[in-house]
Amino acid sequence: MFPKKYMTLSRHIREEERRYPSATGVFSNLLDHLALAGKLIVREVNKAGLVDILGLTGEMNVQGEEVQKLDDFAHQMMVKMLDHSGLLSSMASEEVEDIIPIPPDMQRGPYVLLFDPLDGSSNIDANVSIGTIFSILKKVSAGEEGVLEDCLQPGCRQVAAGYIIYGSSTMLVYTTGNGVHGFTLDPSVGEFLLSHPDIRIPKRGKIFSVNLGNFRRYDERLQNYIRYLMGEENAIGQPYSLRYIGSLVADFHRNLLYGGIFMYPGDSKNKNGKLRLLYEANPLGMVVEQAGGKISNGWESILEIQPRELHQRVPLFIGSHDDVMEAEEFIQGKR
Ligand code: AHG
Ligand code: MN
Ligand code: MN
Repeated sequence: MFPKKYMTLSRHIREEERRYPSATGVFSNLLDHLALAGKLIVREVNKAGLVDILGLTGEMNVQGEEVQKLDDFAHQMMVKMLDHSGLLSSMASEEVEDIIPIPPDMQRGPYVLLFDPLDGSSNIDANVSIGTIFSILKKVSAGEEGVLEDCLQPGCRQVAAGYIIYGSSTMLVYTTGNGVHGFTLDPSVGEFLLSHPDIRIPKRGKIFSVNLGNFRRYDERLQNYIRYLMGEENAIGQPYSLRYIGSLVADFHRNLLYGGIFMYPGDSKNKNGKLRLLYEANPLGMVVEQAGGKISNGWESILEIQPRELHQRVPLFIGSHDDVMEAEEFIQGKR
């Protein structure tokens, strides 16, 4: 048996792929390309303080947010690493208004890639963990060219999803629907090695993650839920710890390993909150469900939502199953 400690990402993906007789290896190839993009991004992230790549580009992105130079770099890297792979019919990025077509002289493939090239941008200059989030769908439209319809599929149609977190170490976490597996980059060999096989999120946690600065804007039922978490009469008999980094990938990853609930709710000012359905909520939703957790907008599983547009936002409650269930009970007035 191949020694587990040298289980590389590529080998793991191919072993996973062997479970599907119909698999053609295109899929493994796609994840390999994503891993390479991640290695090239982390190389810049790790030296960000030394080269002129910190700070703002002076542009605004489609979200109306100031674009960080690293955001732009990560976006360009993802497109350049994937557009000539022959694996995709189209892409969509947080940083670009419309879908990104594959150049006419490039071969197309059966997959669609949606991504947040750099999540947690506001933290870049402060050296706080950030990450790349990716979601993979199969093309559904007829004809060679990828079209918007291929991107606007519910999260339950994802064939793979995951993220790369640039933190104290660089980790790639992914699922193809067969559990969740974490790989840590060994910079000395430039390989992602299996470090967290079959990740399972605790059924209930002791952590809640939310930007309490928005508390006064929350619906009263949600305020009651948060007060319940901070009290002694809750399911764990002690106040939950508040952990909020302001980087979704970092907050999510910690809660995936330790247990807990991450919330970015809608409020009186932004009824759908801030986070995007297609390349933040859906991919992390596939990961959390595969790890035994739950994702919700307070009323239904987000993975059932039929997207209307690329950058639509959605209220997000994600993490340990029993914690998200409890949040729904409060929000729906059952508690
Ligand atoms: P991005 O950097 O891709 O725009 O995402 C930032 C998001 C997410 O990472 C984080 O959870 C959230 O912004 C924090 O928002 P607040 O500062 O409003 O709490
Ligand atoms: Mn983001
Ligand atoms: Mn981003």
